[in-house]
Amino acid sequence: MLNSVTVQAPAKINMALRVGSPRPDGFHPLATVFCALDLRDELTASAADEFSLEIHGVPLDVDEDNLVYRAARLLKERTGSDACAAISIDKSIPVAGGLAGGSANAAATLVALNELWELGLSAGELHDLGAELGSDVPFSLLGGLALGTSRGEELVPIRPGAFQSWVLVMDGEGLSTPAVFREYDRLHPDPHKAAPVDELVEALGSSAISDLEGLLVNDLAEPAFAMRPDIADTFRRIEHAGVATVLSGSGPTIGVLCASDNEADVLAGQLRNDGLKTVRADGPAAGTHIVRSS
Ligand code: C5P
Repeated sequence: MLNSVTVQAPAKINMALRVGSPRPDGFHPLATVFCALDLRDELTASAADEFSLEIHGVPLDVDEDNLVYRAARLLKERTGSDACAAISIDKSIPVAGGLAGGSANAAATLVALNELWELGLSAGELHDLGAELGSDVPFSLLGGLALGTSRGEELVPIRPGAFQSWVLVMDGEGLSTPAVFREYDRLHPDPHKAAPVDELVEALGSSAISDLEGLLVNDLAEPAFAMRPDIADTFRRIEHAGVATVLSGSGPTIGVLCASDNEADVLAGQLRNDGLKTVRADGPAAGTHIVRSS
């Protein structure tokens, strides 16, 4: 019997995010390229008689709707387990930043409790439960670099051709994903398919980061910028600071892909001096994995 399991789960950036008109279930068909980053949340699940959740690192109100609780409830429901756990999370991924911080916590909960409660669920079963919890949860489990279609939960891994050095520019005020999709629909009311991302997928297999110039694109940038002109201003300021600049997910985090680790370190320092909140992150990073158990 294990007493405690510690898991790390990565943030993601969408290197490309193409959006189609909404399906009958309200979700938008996507063609997206995910890259997992070495910016991680760490979650520890310990054996306990009652369920509890503590979150450190960011001020966050936790209620029963939190993805961690939902992940734990889903596991219990599907496996018939009546176990409990005390869960503690050290958050490094910003909340509502477009980096899948909530999804990382759901993925971490699935992996940690599967181990702590000895449920024996396979990676495929965890993927399916993850997809029920949120569109980005399966990729948080998988990590690396992948093409995502359907809601983003159907994944095909891409063999990474090069190490990626990113500067992330954060904004203190988050953006609501459903609100950004609603604004997208208002701007693009006609039925349409998500544009293909083949060119980027092909270029990612090449070894030169400079080949990616001009290939990073996000259809949610237009609605996000319409809702938050200040983010559009920041984007324009840093648009040519590296090889390519892209808004991640529904924003507001902006990623600048740099030619090297060193260039990214220098750029992060410069942007910080200019008053922007920057974080260095590299990819592709591992998916959700156990780092300690006792
Ligand atoms: O799947 P997830 O819970 O992360 O999605 C949050 C919201 O984002 C959904 O309720 C929906 O409004 C929007 N969404 C969408 N199409 C997707 C993914 C998310 O419309 N493919």
